[in-house]
Amino acid sequence: MRDFIQGLPKVELHLHIEGTLEPDLMFELAQRNGVHIPFSTPEQVRAAYDFHNLQSFLDIYYQGANVLIHEQDFYDLTWAYLQHCHADNVIHTEIFFDPQTHTDRGVAFATVINGISRALADGREQLGISSELIMCFLRHLDEASAFATLEMALPYRDKIIAVGLDSSEQGNPPEKFARVFAKAREAGFLTVAHAGEEGTADNIRDAMSLLGVSRVDHGVACSQDEALMNELAANRMPLTVCPLSNTRLKVFDKMSEHNITDLLRRGLCVTINSDDPAYFGGYMTDNFMAVAEALPLNHKELAQFTLNAIEASFITDAAKQQLAERTCAYLAQHS
Ligand code: ADE
Ligand code: ZN
Repeated sequence: MRDFIQGLPKVELHLHIEGTLEPDLMFELAQRNGVHIPFSTPEQVRAAYDFHNLQSFLDIYYQGANVLIHEQDFYDLTWAYLQHCHADNVIHTEIFFDPQTHTDRGVAFATVINGISRALADGREQLGISSELIMCFLRHLDEASAFATLEMALPYRDKIIAVGLDSSEQGNPPEKFARVFAKAREAGFLTVAHAGEEGTADNIRDAMSLLGVSRVDHGVACSQDEALMNELAANRMPLTVCPLSNTRLKVFDKMSEHNITDLLRRGLCVTINSDDPAYFGGYMTDNFMAVAEALPLNHKELAQFTLNAIEASFITDAAKQQLAERTCAYLAQHS
């Protein structure tokens, strides 16, 4: 099974670039930039990654991001992620970045986006990995901060395909950002949002109706609402599911209890993604493996996750067709 999954072409649609900061690189950047971190070894950092919910993770994740200061740091972070993509046969990736995590510490928006974009361009040229960038607003911050961030992004409109919404879902419903998302759509951005991760199925409905999203990030809480599941299946509204994240943050106690198989078999456009792989124990192949080991999925169903991600991606129809043909050819060879 590992060989089949390893070689399977993959498309990632839910990946926070700040969540790819491995403890070793965190240490290297802390030294390089003279930033204090409250750990003395990378092993100590790993030992601190024992989360009981989303917030307990976010507290550590924002602290880790403090070591990212210069454009080269963002380049190195992104380049390291692309090496994992290459090893895992990820052929296309759509990456989130959280500018407010950096601009609130005095790091310029340009520093962040130029470092990430330069690595993505090298990834395209040297590794053949296509990519897009999605700028997320932090939902625990206020609407004014999100509007200011959208202003900063306008000069980089050609580098950012969509805006998203992440951070603490509870207490920060989609409604809080309806006006910012309307303005982003007017400016030509597509939209996505985290909804139904720790929050309720209502957040999924509101993300669609109030934010006009093209995809729902996570969305696993749709199981609470039979009518919603039917609607998501009928509309082929994509859900970017993150299996290892969900078990590490206790959205599901065990992988064998995850609802991804049920959602797939009901005809929802579910995909597999790694979310914050440096914190949750694995990149794309590890996420596919964790699902395949715990749940009764055959090769065709595993390949369907890739076909769903191609369908849900923000690439052209011609590019979708090409990636789908490549995936079907791989499946035919390995069936
Ligand atoms: N930011 C990074 N990872 C996240 C997640 N899983 N949910 C919400 N915000 C996040
Ligand atoms: Zn996420």
